[in-house]
Amino acid sequence: MKHHTVTKGFTHQNQKHDSAVKQVTGRAEYTDDIAEPVGTLHAYLGVSNVAHAKLNGIDLSKVRDADGVVAVLTADDIPGANDISPTGRNDEPVFPTEKIEFHGQPLFAVIAETRDAARRAAEFAEVDCDVLPHAIDPVSARDAGMPLITEPLKLERGDIDKGFATAQNRIKGQVTVGGQDHMYLEGHIAFAVPGEDEDVVVHCSTQHPSEAQHMVAHVLGVPSNAVVVNVRRMGGGFGGKESQMNLFCAVAAIAAKKLGRPVKIRPDRDQDMTATGKRHDFVIDYDIGFDNDGRIEAVSGEFAARCGYSSDLSGPVTDRALFHADNAYFYPHVRLTSRPQKTNTVSNTAFRGFGGPQGVIAAERMIEEIAFALDKDPLDVRKANFYGDGTDGRNLTPYHQSVDDNIISRVVEELEESADYRARREDIRAFNAKGGILRRGIALTPVKFGISFTATHYNQAGALIHVYNDGSIHLNHGGTEMGQGLNTKVAQVVAEAFQVDFNRIKITKTTTEKVPNTSATAASSGSDLNGMAALNAAEQIKARLVTFAAESRGVSEDAVSFGPTGISIGTDVVPFDKLVKEAYMARVHLSATGFYKTPDIHWDRAAGKGRPFYYYAYGAACSEVTIDTLTGEYRVERADILHDVGRSLNPALDKGQVEGAFIQGMGWLTTEELWWDDEGRLRTHAPSTYKIPLASDRPREFNVKLADWSENREMTIKRSKAVGEPPFMLGISVFEALSMAVASVADYRICPRLEAPATPERVLLAVERLKAGA
Ligand code: MTE
Ligand code: HPA
Ligand code: MOS
Repeated sequence: MKHHTVTKGFTHQNQKHDSAVKQVTGRAEYTDDIAEPVGTLHAYLGVSNVAHAKLNGIDLSKVRDADGVVAVLTADDIPGANDISPTGRNDEPVFPTEKIEFHGQPLFAVIAETRDAARRAAEFAEVDCDVLPHAIDPVSARDAGMPLITEPLKLERGDIDKGFATAQNRIKGQVTVGGQDHMYLEGHIAFAVPGEDEDVVVHCSTQHPSEAQHMVAHVLGVPSNAVVVNVRRMGGGFGGKESQMNLFCAVAAIAAKKLGRPVKIRPDRDQDMTATGKRHDFVIDYDIGFDNDGRIEAVSGEFAARCGYSSDLSGPVTDRALFHADNAYFYPHVRLTSRPQKTNTVSNTAFRGFGGPQGVIAAERMIEEIAFALDKDPLDVRKANFYGDGTDGRNLTPYHQSVDDNIISRVVEELEESADYRARREDIRAFNAKGGILRRGIALTPVKFGISFTATHYNQAGALIHVYNDGSIHLNHGGTEMGQGLNTKVAQVVAEAFQVDFNRIKITKTTTEKVPNTSATAASSGSDLNGMAALNAAEQIKARLVTFAAESRGVSEDAVSFGPTGISIGTDVVPFDKLVKEAYMARVHLSATGFYKTPDIHWDRAAGKGRPFYYYAYGAACSEVTIDTLTGEYRVERADILHDVGRSLNPALDKGQVEGAFIQGMGWLTTEELWWDDEGRLRTHAPSTYKIPLASDRPREFNVKLADWSENREMTIKRSKAVGEPPFMLGISVFEALSMAVASVADYRICPRLEAPATPERVLLAVERLKAGA
């Protein structure tokens, strides 16, 4: 449908986040703000203080006797299944009964009149166990003969033996890349209110209400229709609330049903950090063959990941690492394998990029190796290896999907120009040649990221729209709001469909009562999937209104159209609310459910072939850093970004996503370090020891642009592209710039092989190593 004037609040324009004012003024409601009914109890987890042991029993008498304690919940109190594994592997108990598998593992829950009482009492348990040897990282776990936690994946194309045999150069190496804590502002929380019969309502902070619902039903041993899960918004999720809330929802719901009183559980930050999973750290072994021009001939790589004690989402996470081990580069002959390694640590989980960033790090390390070996600008090596334009036989990925929407060359060239990369690099090399204590580095790195859940069935969504007879619109969809602006974007789509003001649409909480069987709001797919589902619902109601309008005025349906001042019916223009009222009086159905599933995708994991991704999002970043070679300290002087979101649904929100993702990616690779001691205890379990980037760590100069010429060639919602995760990997440019600055101390003759995170200590060690000529 055509519209002539553009009304504020439609798509492709800046529209502020619907909760922005509420969030900055403290009026936005989070789970912990919901008024507690009289009688509300509070739960706290009791945890293990060994990493691996045979569990003989727990003496809870002192816990039960403590002040304010109402009950203690153990595995014996679970009426249904003692299992919350998201993939149905039955390897993740709510509370273990036979063995302890990581330091900090929840063993029981205390339910008390106050949270403080529950928390204090949890310390009084006496755990009887026989300590067993533990292995906490993927290499020692492999050496100790621990099993893989889930089936590995192999991606293969071409003939790598032949590729290596004919390549002029070959380098083998290893890169270690650290994990990351989600550090959402709002931690995990669940608040369960018991109802009649088997019913329970759980308010919680989750990216995946349907899974929380199914898990609660599973542990209670009741059908899913007895359980309602609600989430108005989260104070950040970043993947950490895709599966990890299951534990908290289960505990709150079991306690609430057992005691017949509302129960809330909210771990403190230390427990949130020790008892819930994080980004997987990886140890990646690579082997590359390349010619004298820097063109890659063959790649083989093994990707070992610290998965923790249970599978959780480690299968799809390690799969996605392989799917992104090519980044934007064509590998003529390739073999990639994953090693999802079981370890005696907390079970690692989704985190922005979902394994993809770890794959991209491997690709960028290989580029660096080639550049240093051949004494080339890494950007030239990158360009020499980009996927082709479809005419040169250089478009097939290791998983046999053809990259048909490739725009990486244009993105990179535009950024190279606007960031003045070449001239600045010359300046920086001249500066470094003076041999001072401060050294500078610059790097321009690309990103290509595949959009769709790799588990094809997750690529579906539903929505529910009610138009009330006063013309106000109530919108629900299956997605959840975690700060990314999904609700705003979906409301923009609906406002545009009805050609009504944005404010006419009420954005409401996500609830399993309104839209069933939803997927996690994850894989950056929120607006792609839910925007389409909501549009589908809106189109149904519109079609009924068009039919009604045409019949009521005796014109053909072609003569009816929605415009910003109302609905044109022949020569008449009727305001939206007036037409709605008329339609209601004529008994027109003014509610609709919408549905969407992504077309044309398929994936055969056993064969390692298919089209797992509907399309790709692209981007590039150019970062400049200065390091102090005496202390290893550094700062980011400037970052320039050009990122592709297709035709943006909302450029202001998308820019915010790009900026936030870049900083979060930079934090992952620089200051955020997870450190376990020999006992397997996470010692970086609070902001005092775990350093996320501060406002003062942002680039001194920060130029962020969306590629406004880009348009999705697939029929996505308004031709936009997903934005949530891809720009996370732009932070890699900071890591690569640090590497260049370090390399300068040995006149760029040695690849620094920096490990991530490149903390000041690691930068200093690398500087010393290179000075010693290693
Ligand atoms: N942005 C904010 N502000 N808070 C978040 O928790 N999560 C990220 C990204 N951006 C997140 C965020 C992750 S991991 C994903 S998968 C997407 O948002 C999910 O939302 P979307 O699919 O609607 O983009
Ligand atoms: N991305 C993010 N979350 C997921 C995925 C994925 O591909 N698969 C299952 N959960
Ligand atoms: Mo995002 S890691 O897919 O929640």
